[in-house]
Amino acid sequence: MADDFERGGSPLYAGLAREHADDPLLAELAGDRRARWEFPLRLFGGVHYLALAGLAEHPWNRFPDVLREHRDWLARFVAEQPVQTNEVQRSWGMLPGFLIVGGGGMPLDLVELGPSAGLNLYWDRYRYRYAEHEWGPESAKLELAGAARRPPPAELFALRVEVRLRVGIDRRPVDVTTEHGARLLQAFVWADQEHRLERLRRAIAIVREEPPELLCGDFVELLPELLAGRDPEALTVVFDSTSLVYVPEPDVARVRAAIEEAGAHGPLAWVSYELPADAERPYASFSLEAQVWPGGERRVLARLDGHANWLEWVDEVAA
Ligand SMILES: C[S@@+](CC[C@H](N)C(=O)[O-])C[C@H]1O[C@@H](n2cnc3c(N)ncnc32)[C@H](O)[C@@H]1O
Repeated sequence: MADDFERGGSPLYAGLAREHADDPLLAELAGDRRARWEFPLRLFGGVHYLALAGLAEHPWNRFPDVLREHRDWLARFVAEQPVQTNEVQRSWGMLPGFLIVGGGGMPLDLVELGPSAGLNLYWDRYRYRYAEHEWGPESAKLELAGAARRPPPAELFALRVEVRLRVGIDRRPVDVTTEHGARLLQAFVWADQEHRLERLRRAIAIVREEPPELLCGDFVELLPELLAGRDPEALTVVFDSTSLVYVPEPDVARVRAAIEEAGAHGPLAWVSYELPADAERPYASFSLEAQVWPGGERRVLARLDGHANWLEWVDEVAA
C-alpha cells in the first residue's frame, strides 16, 4: 500500500504506511478483517475524519499518539466504514460524452448509477478546460481541468444543455447536506492532497444549494422500474463512473439488458466511464463509452485514467 500511496501522489501516507507497517497497535486495530488491503485506507480515513471534526489536532505529526488516544473509535470506524469516495474530477472525463449524447436540444433527465454523494450529477454547473477549449458557466464556483492529450473535437464545446432532473441510485448514498456526510467524503481524500480537498469542498457547496434525489438501493434491481417510468418529453441519460467495476459480470449484463430494453421503447442515452472488463488491472486505461437510442451503436469516445487527470480522444465504434 505504501507503494500505491507513493504512485498516487501522497508522500504523507506512503511515509506513514512504511513507518508503521509492523506496528503491533495497527495489527490490533486491523483485527481479523478480511479486506486487509483496504485497512490503511480506512485507518487514514478515520484519522483524517477526527482531524476534520476538530478532535485530533495535527494528527499526522503524532500519529501513534492519536491511534492510542482514539483506539476504540478508530477500531469501530475501520470495522464498519467502507471507503466511500466521490471524485468530481470525473465530470471532466465525462463531459464530452454528455455533450455528444445530450447536446441535441432535448432537456435532459440524469440517472446516475452509484453516485455516492451525487457530485457528478451537477456536471453542467461546473466550468471546464480542455487544451484551448472551455465549456460551462463562466460564473461557476468550480473549474475542472486536465491534460487533454488528444482533445475532443472543438465543435462539441459549442453545444448547450438543459438539465431538468437529477436522480442517483446508490447502496450507500452520502448526504453532503449533513456535517457527517460532507466530512466523510473529505476524510477519504488523502490528507496531503490539498487541491483535491479544495475541489471537493467547492463541489459539495454547489450540491448543497440544491441536493439531488438519491435513492438508497441496488441499481441492478431498481434501474428497470426507474427507466419504465421515465418522461418521454426529455432525454434520459443514464451514466456511471467507476461503479460497474464493483459489480459482478452477470449483474453488469442485467444493467446493460435493462438499458437496451428501455432503449427499444423510446429515446435514451448511456454514458459509461469504467475499466474495460478485459483490462489488465490495476494500471490499465479506463474508457469513456456512449450509446444513444434509437440505434444504440456503442462508441468508445476516449481513453482516460481512473481519476480523469488526462484523456485521449478516440471516438471509434466498439468491437
Ligand atoms: C468508487 S464509488 C464511485 C462514485 C462516483 N460514481 C464517482 O465516480 O465518484 C462506487 C459507488 O458505487 C456504489 N455501488 C456499487 N455497486 C452498487 C450497486 N450494485 N447498487 C448501488 N450502488 C452501488 C457504491 O456504494 C459507491 O458509492
